[in-house]
Amino acid sequence: VDKKIETYFSTSQKKRFFFPGKILWGEGSRSEIFSILGEVGSVDLIYDSCFSESDYLNSVIPYLGSRLRLSCPVVGSPSPQAVRRIISTFSHPPEVVVALGGGSTLDFAKGLIASWIYGDIAGIGVGNRRGISTIDSVSRPTFVALPTTAGSGAESSRYYVLYDEHTKSKVHGKSWELVADWILLDQSFLVNASPKLLLAGALDAFVHFLETLFCRGERSWIGESIAMDGITRILRALPIALQGRRESDSAQLQLLYCATLAGVAISNTRTGHIHEAGGALREHTNLSHAETLLVFLHSACEDYAPYVDSEFGSLWSSLAREMPAGSAPSGLIELAEWWEQIFRKFDASESVVSATRAISNDDTIREKIFLRVRDDRVWVEKESPLLLSDEVIQQFIIKSLHRWAM
Ligand SMILES: [Fe+2]
Repeated sequence: VDKKIETYFSTSQKKRFFFPGKILWGEGSRSEIFSILGEVGSVDLIYDSCFSESDYLNSVIPYLGSRLRLSCPVVGSPSPQAVRRIISTFSHPPEVVVALGGGSTLDFAKGLIASWIYGDIAGIGVGNRRGISTIDSVSRPTFVALPTTAGSGAESSRYYVLYDEHTKSKVHGKSWELVADWILLDQSFLVNASPKLLLAGALDAFVHFLETLFCRGERSWIGESIAMDGITRILRALPIALQGRRESDSAQLQLLYCATLAGVAISNTRTGHIHEAGGALREHTNLSHAETLLVFLHSACEDYAPYVDSEFGSLWSSLAREMPAGSAPSGLIELAEWWEQIFRKFDASESVVSATRAISNDDTIREKIFLRVRDDRVWVEKESPLLLSDEVIQQFIIKSLHRWAM
């Protein structure tokens, strides 16, 4: 990846759109791994531990034979310490890193690659480490990703996040060097996904698309068309995928495709205050990433609706065209309500209710969420469709928590 691209950003006058990877999708795509790995000498394999006994790994591992240098199951959140333990046992990276799993597994693989090519993980590409160079003497491994959940878009996004084993704090950064070179989207990995997992992933991808559309300066024509198409696909495919029947296969593939495209879109803009508030809330509850997004979605949509509803005309018409008659949201608030209803329908919002009840009147936690949102100055002052004053942020947090805690 040309280093210049890491420091170039879009403004309202001049746009940049970039994606360095290759995406293959459809039934049987996962078998393409055999041709991709055909000639390579050494491979590190990182996988979600729940695939340990899968038929797929049981065919890939023997195929690689002695070329397989490391086979590493990932359990729970990825940590920089676990990455360091692996790095310390080898003197150089493999030729290829293969990662099979959801966001945590893929971020673990990204942490490994960052450690190899930059020397460490913390804060790559942000603050005073914007535009830093990779280590000359190290050749970057080819990265092959097989996502098994349709959500984070970690395979196609330049962002990564790991959690310190001791302090539990976030270790994050961004670089296009960490986007997978090959992304294989095969719906067979999603066959046994629970409704809760499908809902969580779909909502995460949806919010990635939505926040790219909210960006005032950084949004671009390319990003906009991907996001509007992606939101329409998610709203059409999710109810079908949730029925869990054989014919839902193509709906599951659509969700995988959307999650990956959302990773591409968000890498060219940024996440907004739904993610920021959600990230802060996550540190004080046991809610998942997606559940924290659900907490803040409606209030954000309420605040932004007067500013963007009329700009999103082509989204409302595409939803009306593609969704079953009478079910298409025609404004931001209806869109947020669509999500709340589908979570309730599948009994997936109970933990949100109990977690927000436990903390809704806790001033310290509210203050922490407030500071996190307020400190993202680029969002608050430049990219948000409405200037987020302290008062607006405070009301946004109170409204969000009370909406669920009632
Ligand atoms: Fe996210």
